[in-house]
Amino acid sequence: MPIHHNQVKNHDSQSIGQWVEQFRPFAKEGKCASYIPALAQKDPQQLAISIIGPNSEQIVGGDVTELFTLQSVSKVVTFILACMDRGLPYVLERVDVEPTGDTFNSIIRLESHQPGKPFNPMINAGAITVSSMLDGSSPQEKVAKILSFLEQMVGKQLKVNEEVFQSEWQTANRNRSLAYYLMDSGFLDCPVEEALEVYLKQCAIEVNVSDLAMIGLVIANDGYHPQRKIQLFPKQVAKLAKALMVTCGMYNASGKFAAFIGLPAKSGVSGAIVAAVPNHASLESPFPAGCGIGIYGPAIDDIGNSVAGVKLLKHVADEWNMTIF
Ligand code: DON
Repeated sequence: MPIHHNQVKNHDSQSIGQWVEQFRPFAKEGKCASYIPALAQKDPQQLAISIIGPNSEQIVGGDVTELFTLQSVSKVVTFILACMDRGLPYVLERVDVEPTGDTFNSIIRLESHQPGKPFNPMINAGAITVSSMLDGSSPQEKVAKILSFLEQMVGKQLKVNEEVFQSEWQTANRNRSLAYYLMDSGFLDCPVEEALEVYLKQCAIEVNVSDLAMIGLVIANDGYHPQRKIQLFPKQVAKLAKALMVTCGMYNASGKFAAFIGLPAKSGVSGAIVAAVPNHASLESPFPAGCGIGIYGPAIDDIGNSVAGVKLLKHVADEWNMTIF
């Protein structure tokens, strides 16, 4: 099961190391998420990047051994799983694929639009709905399925960070409100507390930047795992996931991210960012066959995106002419 990556040692990897140091100081323009007490204790100056291509070639820079939680990056993964478990029509009947322009935990459109269907799976309302529909008769079974699916992508065992989960479970008033509202309008497939437990545990799954890069690589490859040589999820689902990442992946900064960076990406309040770079988007880069990019920088902006992380990703994309447009 372990996947071995070959560290590339050339001027490209030197550039990455320099770029990490160039953008690390921007962390002071952000703050670690404080609404989840366990995240507030992280070192805001940390910054790391890992880029992995289909032939296991890898470039890394910065604090690459640091562990952090997936947070909202998990929303892409559970969306893909729900599509596999239930089929696309079932999922799309319960969650739309339209961006909102609202904050990730906003409740307003559940009432202002009828029938109150969540706008997309990348905001909390949509993600809680998606978590409720995963296969499994208990939260434990659903979480085990998420872990096992992720483990197939990253090639190693993963676990839920209990401290982060507990920290968020006890402060999840807004998510509880969203879930009760969704239950009232008939959008949850399991009891509120169970859906919340799955959602908050998936958010608390612990990874490093190379795990993120592997997730990005498999999505970039339309669900095909290039090292394990298996199709992990259908191409049609991967395409939808990438479209959702472009239109909703960076919350209410997704428009600007698409306009000025132009890669399918998903962020989380832990400071994680995953980007899926398809081969046609990186022909002039050191990864001409495409790649996955994982970034970690825990100081986030008001919207929830890593400040130094977004700047570093923009620089890499600009320098190597990576864009889907
Ligand atoms: O639901 C929450 O508040 C978090 N567990 C995850 C949110 C998240 O990462 C949104 N990010 N910007």
